[in-house]
Amino acid sequence: MHILVCGGAGYIGSHMAKMLVGLGHSVTVFDNLSTGHRQLVKWGRLVEGDLLRPADLKALFDRERFDGVMHFSARSLVGESIRDPDLYFQNNVTGTENLLRAMREAGLQRFVFSSSAAVYGNPAKGLIDEAHPTKPINPYGETKLRVEEILQSRAAEHGLNSVSLRYFNAAGADPQGETGELHNPETHLIPNVLRAAKGECALQVFGNDYSTPDGTCIRDYIHVNDLCRAHLLALEYMEKKPGAHVFNLGIGKGFSILEIIRAAEKVVGKSIPFTYAPRRPGDPPVLVADSTLARKTLGWQPEYLDQEEIIRTAWSWMAKDRFKL
Ligand SMILES: NC(=O)c1ccc[n+]([C@@H]2O[C@H](COP(=O)([O-])OP(=O)(O)OC[C@H]3O[C@@H](n4cnc5c(N)ncnc54)[C@H](O)[C@@H]3O)[C@@H](O)[C@H]2O)c1
Repeated sequence: MHILVCGGAGYIGSHMAKMLVGLGHSVTVFDNLSTGHRQLVKWGRLVEGDLLRPADLKALFDRERFDGVMHFSARSLVGESIRDPDLYFQNNVTGTENLLRAMREAGLQRFVFSSSAAVYGNPAKGLIDEAHPTKPINPYGETKLRVEEILQSRAAEHGLNSVSLRYFNAAGADPQGETGELHNPETHLIPNVLRAAKGECALQVFGNDYSTPDGTCIRDYIHVNDLCRAHLLALEYMEKKPGAHVFNLGIGKGFSILEIIRAAEKVVGKSIPFTYAPRRPGDPPVLVADSTLARKTLGWQPEYLDQEEIIRTAWSWMAKDRFKL
């Protein structure tokens, strides 16, 4: 297959490109390099372009024929989305609409979308399944939900087949250390814990008075390659089941911030300093996925269940001088 990986110069998209090429598929990465990195496009060809410029998309689809599109491109900083919601709606929603239009004109109907647990907002319970009400509490989450709604309409109006995958906390890196997480600024826990271990930053833990056993937030960390495997299954699934589908992706077990720090200390072999800071607005105490639907329907099974193993893959990537790749 020839797969278009939009946002393939970023963290998750670069792992997807590697997996696809490893399985013998061909990959074209479409990316404006706004948060991605040219150096991470090692698998497949990079086409530099912007979803907000329809002419870039038309030129791409006029030139190439694809068998499916995986759409990882988005702005995804919650704080930035609160400061500048228009920027988020434009990039994440209008950008996706442009991509869907270009796909329709090219007669292409298979689309996998990177959605997020952010669509659930402040969940009413710890273990969340897809039937849980969607009430995003920030513009980032609103843009993800809006795209899911558009995909539902496009299925009915134009026969577009899609799978929206609601990721919980993506974590870890390519076990061979060839790609990994490279956000700037980095807001994710595991890379920040490991940066603190390297003395690159001061680690802050936001809130130690939550209603959890150790008072810190609990999250479901899922290895990036387990996410990518679900994308492959999603492409297959659409062949059998047309329409717009939604699945949660998480391992179904939560870990507190302190548990992650302790696991990271075992991996790096030393203690990692941190300080407590006040809670951040909009951080629910517990966010854990019920991914039964993905397991039963897609036949998906996460392979990385041990946090130390996930952190070890991130560490082998972080140990490199990543910004000088
Ligand atoms: N990382 C996580 O924990 C997580 C969790 C839930 C959902 N997601 C979603 O998964 C996707 C990938 O996340 P990531 O962590 O790899 O992000 P990332 O920032 O590393 O990658 C996003 C890529 O999209 C590109 N891009 C953004 N806007 C574009 C545009 N207008 N035109 C062309 N390219 C554009 C960026 O340059 C970048 O390469 C995002 O949609 C994100 O919202 C991520």
